[in-house]
Amino acid sequence: MSKLWGGRFTKSTNELVEEFTASIEFDQQFAMEDIEGSIAHVTMLAECEIITHDEASQLVRGLKIIEEKINNGLADYTVGNEDIHMNIEQMLIDEIGAVGGKLHTGRSRNDQIATDIHLYVNNKTREIIKLVESVQSTFIKQAKSNINVIMPGYTHLQRAQPVLFSHHLLAYFWMLERDKQRLIDSLQRVNWSPLGAGALAGTTFPINRERTAELLGFEMVYPNSLDAVSDRDFVLEFLSIASIMMTHISRLSEELVIWSSQEFNFIELDDSFCTGSSIMPQKKNPDVPELLRGKTGRVHGNLFGLLTVLKGLPLAYNKDMQEDKEGLLDTVKAIDGSLRLLAPMIETMQVKQDNMYNAVDQDYSNATDIADYLVTKGLPFRQAHEIIGKIVLYAIEQKKYLLALTLEEYQSFSNLFEEDIYVVLEPKHVVDARNSTGGTAESQVRKQLEQAEAVLSGN
Ligand code: ARG
Repeated sequence: MSKLWGGRFTKSTNELVEEFTASIEFDQQFAMEDIEGSIAHVTMLAECEIITHDEASQLVRGLKIIEEKINNGLADYTVGNEDIHMNIEQMLIDEIGAVGGKLHTGRSRNDQIATDIHLYVNNKTREIIKLVESVQSTFIKQAKSNINVIMPGYTHLQRAQPVLFSHHLLAYFWMLERDKQRLIDSLQRVNWSPLGAGALAGTTFPINRERTAELLGFEMVYPNSLDAVSDRDFVLEFLSIASIMMTHISRLSEELVIWSSQEFNFIELDDSFCTGSSIMPQKKNPDVPELLRGKTGRVHGNLFGLLTVLKGLPLAYNKDMQEDKEGLLDTVKAIDGSLRLLAPMIETMQVKQDNMYNAVDQDYSNATDIADYLVTKGLPFRQAHEIIGKIVLYAIEQKKYLLALTLEEYQSFSNLFEEDIYVVLEPKHVVDARNSTGGTAESQVRKQLEQAEAVLSGN
């Protein structure tokens, strides 16, 4: 088949080369952005009198017909036309005749693809921000309805100090908040227009780059044409943010998996978010959080893939850069799917308050509070720590928890102990005593919830 660039060639392309170099299989996902960019380009060409207004309206009309065909699934993409740009251009020429060939005046596929990806990343970033917000509001809802639930807080996955379950959930709210802020911040750089950079050096036509930027909603134009066509750091930035976000989602997923185990038994995920085993009838597997944890691997891989593709490339465009797309598309799919599942899964999970509470009650995680108790009675913390260590050891030997030791037993370790130690050791007291800003005391978590709601509503 004849090529849009065929003039220089005496032989047709090897079939394997054609297959190998084509990107239409995946870059057709940028069809709408490509048409949007072309319409802006054509509009500007007419305004700058590079083509006539009549030619521009024929081109725009043709592009709109093609847009509709694509949206109705009627596009006839061919590998012979290599990529989305040449497929659309060929369809346009087939649709409106030779005037279609004016579309590519003063433009290269190099600035064209860069423009498409900028528009795509911009759209997807905005969609993902919305999805992040829906997950954040689910955390707020669950935190509110479980505001009082006490659970063990862990370090080294060993019970450390009791915390409110709502406090634990809100920790993820703030991780996602920072992810969202990173996304919002990145838009500043996504909003640069590469269009009009040409193949690498600009163009001989009297184009107006600021005008196409304005038509496409970009905030500024790349000041350097070489940079404009070879920059993919906005893609790297998106992949980095996605990688960090998936790391957060993966940590949460890990907790959901652990909490769903019979050993922990802190939560039960809704049946509609679990699957069974084909052999073991009793199984209810937390496949969704497992897969969220698993998807994190491919998202990290996509970031590393593109970093590696770009690291040795001389300026400006190189065909290697076509490898930027599949990882990006795959990451968008993974992030989008993950966030969409996360919200209803968190919303429908059942919180087993009693099991969480029992884990705190039958434990030594109130030991720090006895140390703090002795400190308020005047003992240096280091000495108090030593004494409590001995008390815990004694209690373990006696097979008793700290609330079950008698006052005489306490006093045999220090005469500073009085009856009020028993109040101090109650789990709810232990939690509420951590009243420093951002601490787990109920009053602090209530303040935190207010802060979270204000952030989410943009106040
Ligand atoms: N399909 C190409 C890509 O994705 C578009 C740019 C092609 N430019 C070129 N000079 N071959 O990178």
